[in-house]
Amino acid sequence: MRIQPGETMHSAAAKLGLHIPKACGMGICGTCRVPLSSGQVEIDHNGGITDEEVADRYILSCCSRPLGDVVVEY
Ligand code: FES
Repeated sequence: MRIQPGETMHSAAAKLGLHIPKACGMGICGTCRVPLSSGQVEIDHNGGITDEEVADRYILSCCSRPLGDVVVEY
């Protein structure tokens, strides 16, 4: 699926019928965290994910934008 420039992972997933839980929508709460299987994203969060979680390849779907082809597990 192709998405619009600047579109979040959460929005793209919703268009595919995948409704990832979301609460704050601002990268604070961590509710929308999902594992990133492949690819790279830019995460513009506000403390809702730790460096360790990022190192383990988790993303916050509400505030992550893909930098190319990506696959997430949900
Ligand atoms: S919904 Fe709160 S961090 Fe994404």
